[in-house]
Amino acid sequence: MSKMTWDETDRGNYYCGPLLVLLLAYLEFMRNDKNEKRQIHALHFWDYEMIVKREKAELKSGDFGTLEWNDDVIENDEESDTDENEDMKLDRQFIFDKYIPFNERFDKFELNIKDAMKKDKELLTFEKVHLVFFPVHQKNHFYIICINLEEPAVDVIDNRNSVAKFPKAYRDAPNELKILFSRYLMRVNHKSASTLEGVELERVNMNWRTRDNHVDCGVFCMRHMETYMGDKTVNWTCGLPKESKQQQSVLNELRIKYLTKILLSDTNTYRSKIIAQTAKFAKKTNEEIKDLLDKGWEKRGERI
Ligand SMILES: *[C@@H]1O[C@H](CO)[C@@H](O)[C@H](O)[C@H]1NC(C)=O
Repeated sequence: MSKMTWDETDRGNYYCGPLLVLLLAYLEFMRNDKNEKRQIHALHFWDYEMIVKREKAELKSGDFGTLEWNDDVIENDEESDTDENEDMKLDRQFIFDKYIPFNERFDKFELNIKDAMKKDKELLTFEKVHLVFFPVHQKNHFYIICINLEEPAVDVIDNRNSVAKFPKAYRDAPNELKILFSRYLMRVNHKSASTLEGVELERVNMNWRTRDNHVDCGVFCMRHMETYMGDKTVNWTCGLPKESKQQQSVLNELRIKYLTKILLSDTNTYRSKIIAQTAKFAKKTNEEIKDLLDKGWEKRGERI
């Protein structure tokens, strides 16, 4: 009930304006339904149906505020990233965290590069390198920032067909990465270092970008890294048709292909176990396979 319709002379008409705030504060900070993820801000998140559901759950439990706590928080686009662990948060965000002095961010970046290159002298100078791919995980989404060192450019390769030139979700990541990487190249006397620092970021407009796909960004990323050669014109074809059922079936095939590669990779410590299991699986009858798949599907929830 709003302040406007409140009549202070009517004894049966209680003013309950602040109740909404109290209710939201309660929902947000009290013990939570363990199946319900919270989202910041509470006002954007809780709707009537959810409140009714929560109320029922609490009444059923016999008490208020005693449901099991759930720390999971759904990330909100405008909000800062919320992570389970402060150190990880720092780790993931240090690139564009303006509260960390530039030199500190640079030192960490340099350390990471050296680590990634396994201190391989030849690679560390990026002298003979054409393209550098940075897979980025931000806001539960994967995309690629590709730095071209031969024809200096910073290309953002994202499967999402967003209208925005640079979606808010990127925050300053592409630009800060460009600055940090240019500084690194200066340090190793790379010929493209200063040109790179001055280039404009670009988003590549692939015609297979998607509007309704929220699950395959990782598959897109791997395909993009596999096929992008620095040509962002129509000449770049990655084998994916425009968004359609057909595209989905190609994506599904790619997903299988990449999963197989990961499972059978030499660095996978479970590799031999998986090969043994595959051999066992191959001997099963169609009936047994169907049974296994059905069971696997039922137990799917437990694995997530
Ligand atoms: C695509 O490649 C062809 C052959 O290399 C080239 O002639 C053409 O200019 C390219 N198209 C664009 C838009 O760059």
